[in-house]
Amino acid sequence: MARKPITRFVCTQCQAVFPKWNGRCDVCGEWNTLEEETISATPNRPQGGAGAAAGRPGRLITTRLDGKATPPARIETGMAELNRVLGSGLVPGSVVLVGGDPGIGKSTLMLQTTCALARSGHDVLYVSGEEAIDQIRLRARRLELDGDPKTLERLELAASINVADIAASLEEVKSRKVVVIDSIQTMWLEGVSGAPGSVSQVRSCAFELIRLAKTQGFALVLIGHVTKEGALAGPRVLEHMVDAVLYFEGDRGHQFRILRAAKNRFGATDEIGVFAMTDAGLREVPNPSALFLAERRGNIAGSAVFAGLEGTRPVLLEIQVLLSAKSGDGAARRAVLGWDSARLNMILAVLEARCGLKLASMDVHLNVTGGLRINEPAADLAVAAALISAATGQPTDPNTAYFGEIGLSGEIRQVPQTGLRLKEMAKLGFRTALLPRHVGSASARPKAPAGLQLEELGHLADLMK
Ligand code: TYD
Ligand code: MG
Repeated sequence: MARKPITRFVCTQCQAVFPKWNGRCDVCGEWNTLEEETISATPNRPQGGAGAAAGRPGRLITTRLDGKATPPARIETGMAELNRVLGSGLVPGSVVLVGGDPGIGKSTLMLQTTCALARSGHDVLYVSGEEAIDQIRLRARRLELDGDPKTLERLELAASINVADIAASLEEVKSRKVVVIDSIQTMWLEGVSGAPGSVSQVRSCAFELIRLAKTQGFALVLIGHVTKEGALAGPRVLEHMVDAVLYFEGDRGHQFRILRAAKNRFGATDEIGVFAMTDAGLREVPNPSALFLAERRGNIAGSAVFAGLEGTRPVLLEIQVLLSAKSGDGAARRAVLGWDSARLNMILAVLEARCGLKLASMDVHLNVTGGLRINEPAADLAVAAALISAATGQPTDPNTAYFGEIGLSGEIRQVPQTGLRLKEMAKLGFRTALLPRHVGSASARPKAPAGLQLEELGHLADLMK
């Protein structure tokens, strides 16, 4: 007699599991987010192990820490910015999730990447569940990706949402090095409850595809849309199942796109890749500072250049501040784009308490140009410089860049990688660097690159001067 399938309910927002349906998730409090999913009636015993055949648990095979360990092989993707974020390329048998808002450029990025991979001789399969083959061909034509004979020979395209079909073809031809699934939210597996995009479908489809990648050794790239609502399961559902999670970010009004690793089992997570979305697809930006500063206009009060660091790469950015008299009776506005508003409030408080600069009754708008988000406290000094400049109406020197953390007593604290920041400033033609006073041995004192003058600051009061 067929056993009735056992089901459970999973919240699409927080992944909490409940035995019964409810209108509201008791854990995160969201409404209408519980979704039914089928689970197997009998728990499966994991395969393998010495005693597995007899139905007894097997004994663990343990080993020493100092044994042989070979670093994973890498597949160069032909896109330097992507390689950088992955940690020098894709690892065979690994799974990468590329997440991002709809329309940000994920399909474009992966189409360009698969073509580059094919061009350098790798067999690649690109499966789209979102677009018809014609659409992909037209896009490839527009991006002039369809002229290279090697690409045409090595790259296979398919339009499908059926994971069973995909699995069958993958098992038939085993030479493929990289498989791209665009997107995991369109995939569907028979026998699993829910429509494509539901938590149960997304998880089961990903599980099946990941199993194939691990057993056959191809690198799998899953594209996933980030969703605000619970109707589609977001990439967060998959984050723990994959080896690396990359987010493709940017403002659709801006041309810059930043690829950032949120998780990476094979490399660092603080590297970023910078691209520009153009008429001819995504262009890699090997030197982002020049681009981020391209539209800077000197001699305007309220702007300062910050010498920042993203992973191992120095990035110069412009910080802009606009002050205006408070509108209305309530608290003054603090509108911050690309930085932390709590940090801005702290700098404002320190400027008032230690330097007598009163901005409490002013609305403050702060913007980091280029659409980048800064996560470093090292930006404090540049923000303070922009605030002081806006308050006094005096523009900062256009050939000066700033970095340094500000403490509560107004002291300016050292930040990592002074040398890298200074080198980038010199490269871009800056003449003066305002940086924290060097504390420590004289031999570790940062050396000024040719053409750059260093001005060390100990306290915010020095900056006011
Ligand atoms: P797409 O890769 O389809 O986004 P996603 O897969 O993340 O949903 O990119 C869609 C946007 O990119 C679209 O709005 C148009 C823009 N775009 C360009 O500006 N130039 C181009 O060459 C291409 C291919 C797309
Ligand atoms: Mg797409």
